[in-house]
Amino acid sequence: MSQPSESIGDRYQQETKYFRNRMGGGFLDWSKQPETHKRCEGRQGEINLPEPQGEGGEPVWTVIRRRRSAREFTREPISLTQLSQLLWAIQGITHTEFGYTFRACPSAGALYPIETYLVVNHVEGLMPGVYHFYIPEHQLEVLAQGSFSREISEAALGQDMARRASVVLVWTAVVQRSKWKYKERGYRYIYLDAGHIGQNLYLAASALELGCCTIGALFDEEVNGLIGVDGEEETVVYMAAVGKVEG
Ligand SMILES: Cc1cc2nc3c(=O)[nH]c(=O)nc-3n(C[C@H](O)[C@H](O)[C@H](O)COP(=O)(O)O)c2cc1C
Repeated sequence: MSQPSESIGDRYQQETKYFRNRMGGGFLDWSKQPETHKRCEGRQGEINLPEPQGEGGEPVWTVIRRRRSAREFTREPISLTQLSQLLWAIQGITHTEFGYTFRACPSAGALYPIETYLVVNHVEGLMPGVYHFYIPEHQLEVLAQGSFSREISEAALGQDMARRASVVLVWTAVVQRSKWKYKERGYRYIYLDAGHIGQNLYLAASALELGCCTIGALFDEEVNGLIGVDGEEETVVYMAAVGKVEG
């Protein structure tokens, strides 16, 4: 019989399995259910995004076939309309029922633990800076102004695509949103949720003929510091570079 592994990853996988006699659930305190979105206290202003399109576009089969990771971007900025469409495709509210809102991507328990921040390098109609996507109003919150292209690229293990991108999306997890219901198993769902969001971004970028590449190789605390989250209650899980490509 093999020895139990001491590795933290192996232990996490084993200890968060569901068994018929061990589900790890229990009493849910509904009075403590966390909000499913965040309003940034320190925001310097808000920018309403253009109304996104909810119909039309390229056939989904074409978009799936054409999807590819792109890491070489031109210096041409993407438009605010394109950015708005990408954000709607990943986290836009697409359905409301009994006072609950549902989004473009699925989420375990509809708890929506993922927040989106943007490091804008060059987007038409936006100053370079750090922003947060406020989902309920389809708005950007301004967190910091200035160019952070070097910082975001260095935080992505020096990957140059983050410096050359029109915008880098940074996805964080507000951990308690998932842990409130799923306890430690919630981390599994956080990463799965982030994967869905990443794929919708890829497909939306493909439909708009933009380049996109998701990024898992990053220095967590450098990214957390740049967007102003503590790395414990809320921490980066994934990023993506988006920009225009030749052709
Ligand atoms: C979870 C995840 C993390 C990734 N991280 C990086 C990354 O840090 N840098 C990079 O250049 N590509 C990254 N990629 C993109 C993959 O390298 C790419 O999807 C793979 O080579 C397949 O190519 P394709 O996307 O064009 O089909 C990542 C993809 C995923 C799904």
